[in-house]
Amino acid sequence: MKTAILVTGALGQIGSELVPALRERYGAEAVIASDIRVPKGGAAAGPFELLDCSEPAQIREIVRQYGIGTIYHMAALLSAIAEEKPQAAWQLNMGSLYSVLEIARHHGCAVFLPSSIGAFGPSTPRDATPQDTIQRPTTMYGVTKVAGELLCDYYASRFGIDTRGIRLPGLISHVAPPGGGTTDYAVEIFRQALRYRHYTCFLRADTRLDMMYMPDAIRAMIEVMEADPARLVHRNAFNVTAMSFTPEELAAEIRKHIPDFVIDYEVDPVRQAIADTWPRSMDDSAARSEWGWKPDYDMAAMTKDMLDKLGPTLRRAADPANES
Ligand code: SER
Repeated sequence: MKTAILVTGALGQIGSELVPALRERYGAEAVIASDIRVPKGGAAAGPFELLDCSEPAQIREIVRQYGIGTIYHMAALLSAIAEEKPQAAWQLNMGSLYSVLEIARHHGCAVFLPSSIGAFGPSTPRDATPQDTIQRPTTMYGVTKVAGELLCDYYASRFGIDTRGIRLPGLISHVAPPGGGTTDYAVEIFRQALRYRHYTCFLRADTRLDMMYMPDAIRAMIEVMEADPARLVHRNAFNVTAMSFTPEELAAEIRKHIPDFVIDYEVDPVRQAIADTWPRSMDDSAARSEWGWKPDYDMAAMTKDMLDKLGPTLRRAADPANES
């Protein structure tokens, strides 16, 4: 990958792990983290810029100053928040993407855009959801994701911008919490299981959704940007997945490690309605054949690793000696 990389939304659920992975691969100084918030805690392990993505001038200035060659555009509102604030979601998710693409056009940058299972809707086949299929989402989040996929395709074909992206399923991570998504239960459940042996789930017990462990997602984001362009038929919005489960199946897997873990349910109608329009499992054969995508973690391996990693983190956080 050429020259410097800008990551927007770097303090979010994905950015918090993407930035260290990119720095490890390309060097700390080559990766400029940016966010609308100031990072908490100690000195960042590389360059950081405050960036409000609704201000194109700020993006342009950073691209110019650092000679940015690739932009990972992660700043966005997730599905549940976007339903609460649809106007703000359109402004941020679409407005900032348009600015990023225009700046990429002027400065010759490559652009990565994360799309989502949210780009599908109730008329999409929900099992083995094909790469190319009906996309009529009924959420503002989904509308911005489909429009984003199309806009990236347009900038590639019309202006020759190297835009690439993947459709991510729900992401599970022990590092940063997700913010306002429909799949967040699959992260919260681990924290609550370790702390209280109990979790009240906001989705129904039988809600099957596609999921992925964060290390696989980060690898996918790097691999698709490094893929040989000659092999890419789709460029943007590749379906990628790793596992597919329901809350009750995940609870049963956690119970193999924490036998007294109890799950109960208080369904949130808004998030349930969103989940009911999303794929139960995507067909990711295009990503597998065009750039060699293959996940490392299934539900069992992810659950074990989550509990192994999260246990010590929660113990450290609970230790009064670590209070600042
Ligand atoms: N994890 C996201 C959400 O729930 C889906 O892309 O909003």
